[in-house]
Amino acid sequence: MNEIETLSAIIRAAGQKMLSYEAPAVYEKEGHANFVTEADIAVQQYVMEELHKAFPDAAFMGEEEEEHHLGDGLTFVVDPIDGTTNFMRHRRYSVISIGAVENGKPVFGAIYDPYHDDLYTAKRGEGAYCNGKKLQVADTPFHNALVDAGTAPYYEELWDLSIESMRKVLAACSDIRRCGTAALDLCDVAAGRADAFYEWRLQPWDYCAGNLLVEEAGGKVCAITGEEISYDKPVPILAASPACFDQMRQMLLDVKNSLSQ
Ligand code: IPD
Ligand code: CA
Ligand code: CA
Repeated sequence: MNEIETLSAIIRAAGQKMLSYEAPAVYEKEGHANFVTEADIAVQQYVMEELHKAFPDAAFMGEEEEEHHLGDGLTFVVDPIDGTTNFMRHRRYSVISIGAVENGKPVFGAIYDPYHDDLYTAKRGEGAYCNGKKLQVADTPFHNALVDAGTAPYYEELWDLSIESMRKVLAACSDIRRCGTAALDLCDVAAGRADAFYEWRLQPWDYCAGNLLVEEAGGKVCAITGEEISYDKPVPILAASPACFDQMRQMLLDVKNSLSQ
């Protein structure tokens, strides 16, 4: 098996584990309405063990660990459940995200949506796929764009910026969607179901695999404020088709500047 096939088998099995929890215990984390369930912890443990068996030299960085560091070589950056609030509320809109980072960049990865049995995979230089079908970003002009927006829910200090950004996007584009899983938002951009996605603060496990999918589907990704994405710390993320990327980025920066004055 190559690395994508191995990763696919692991993430699919992890998806079944996730679905096996119907009423998981819920614990609070730091930040506004930020939760972790026993399913998040069990899925992370399972993924960590299976990755270790399959890739014994690789390091692991999972959301629900105490500390978060990239290793020196290959590191798996894992969100065991992206969309935990959806999961707790049985909204059937949550995924598992695994990105493999090497030399500061994601090199392969997978996102699995067990509710729809959609498996997204990408390897750098070899394209992005969903269930074996090649993904390509959309070519919609900016004024007709459909934009996925994240609300940075755990960071109260970013709510004004998040809401004002949505107001500006809504006025300039076609409409907004807010699904509750950033990893799936990035799949939306890669698959051409959305033209852009942004959120003013995301953690590496939210965007690692998704960024690679977007880039391999012909899209562009950046930290909105311009810093290099190092995959070991939170950044404000914009992912978009080339048709919308520049205008989206400028609009988001204008909103930020207008609020800082
Ligand atoms: C969250 C989801 C949500 C996004 C948050 C993320 P979690 O991840 O991706 O859509 O708005 O910023 O933290 O907490 O469900 O893993
Ligand atoms: Ca997440
Ligand atoms: Ca999570």
